[in-house]
Amino acid sequence: METKNIGLRGIEVADTRISNIDGEKGKLIYRGYDILDLTKNSNFEETAYLLLYDELPTKDQLSEFNAKLIDARYIPKQMQKNMGNWRKDADPMDMLQAFVAALAGYYDEEFADKNASYDRAINLIAKIPTIIASWQRIRNGLDIVDPDSSLGHAANFLYMMSGERPDPEVEKIFDVCLILHADHTFNASTFTARQVASTRAHMYSASSAAIGALSGELHGGANTEVMKMLLEIETIDKVEPWIKEQIAKGQRIMGMGHAVYKTYDPRAQVLKELSRKLAEKTGEPWFAMTEKVETATIAEMKKQKGRDIYPNVDLYSASIYYMLKIPVDLNTPIFAISRVVGWAAHIIEEKFAEAAPKPALYRPKASYVGKYCGPEGCEYKPLDLRK
Ligand SMILES: CC(C)(COP(=O)(O)OP(=O)(O)OC[C@H]1O[C@@H](n2cnc3c(N)ncnc32)[C@H](O)[C@@H]1OP(=O)(O)O)[C@@H](O)C(=O)NCCC(=O)NCCS
Repeated sequence: METKNIGLRGIEVADTRISNIDGEKGKLIYRGYDILDLTKNSNFEETAYLLLYDELPTKDQLSEFNAKLIDARYIPKQMQKNMGNWRKDADPMDMLQAFVAALAGYYDEEFADKNASYDRAINLIAKIPTIIASWQRIRNGLDIVDPDSSLGHAANFLYMMSGERPDPEVEKIFDVCLILHADHTFNASTFTARQVASTRAHMYSASSAAIGALSGELHGGANTEVMKMLLEIETIDKVEPWIKEQIAKGQRIMGMGHAVYKTYDPRAQVLKELSRKLAEKTGEPWFAMTEKVETATIAEMKKQKGRDIYPNVDLYSASIYYMLKIPVDLNTPIFAISRVVGWAAHIIEEKFAEAAPKPALYRPKASYVGKYCGPEGCEYKPLDLRK
């Protein structure tokens, strides 16, 4: 019998210049640069430029890129008015998916060339934080906070969301989180974006589809679930028995495990230290509890399933966002604030790849295991003859 590639694990479907994961060594590379290096030396805007344009920018290129991002931050007032018609308890990921698709109704899709795609990418990167922050204000009955052109991308989002300018340390921590989430090869949402783009659908449509893929708990939704898990466990002394019971019941521990990394996810290493730092500053218990989740899951998975497991990007980001006073259900939308850079870069690569093998419309095969009534097919019975 032919072997099926359930979940497409290990299947190479296209060439990419954008990022690479070494799952054995625990390394993540953006356009040739180690992310650990980028988190130390770069910032979100520069990393976004690198991912989009394949090179680190010069001073002039970066200031032009920053100016374009700042100019594009506002979203149409009509869009904010429409948000007011949504249920206040609607999931922010559903709202984000709908309003990213709706951007196509406000901004042209007339030009199909590469430059127009870069403009669309900038529009999306600049506007997604404003969409999320506007929704956060509207659903809480608060006035919308307009973008502040003196603030960088990370600080401006925190400001639009809370109405307060973050201190430099908080801004830096959030900026590093954005760098770490910006791309990750052919993960589920990026593959979704590429797949939609392969039909020649436009960037807003492909990005909106990617947001749908990101929302699920086995992908970006895991960071929201991690925080819900910590809140449910409540105290550090309950972590070990809780994890033991969940694994015995065959439940998955959110924030643990990865389809590609066979060792520690390098993003989780950086986030762990940031979470530790914030816990020292705030005195909150969430870092210590998360660390206990990590050690208890590793121990129980080994004991009960004989399997090695490591933290992924979502384990420590949850406690960081909580200590930054970000509402739990915005954890996954924040992932989108950063990952849209990767989606846009991949959509552009999918549509405008110059070197062979050029991408083609994605169209996998499935094996039919349904009803079979012989070579002629099943006989159609009119409705009144069916029992
Ligand atoms: C991310 C994920 C889907 C990757 O899975 P994968 O490595 O491809 O492995 P599979 O889904 O095939 O699972 C392999 C086995 O490990 C177990 N496993 C994987 N992750 C687990 C976890 N977090 N907790 C408990 N068991 C886990 C599965 O139950 C499965 O066990 P089984 O063979 O007895 O059925 C998986 O680790 C997961 O569901 N993690 C939790 C969700 C999460 O944090 N997602 C964010 C990813 S960045």
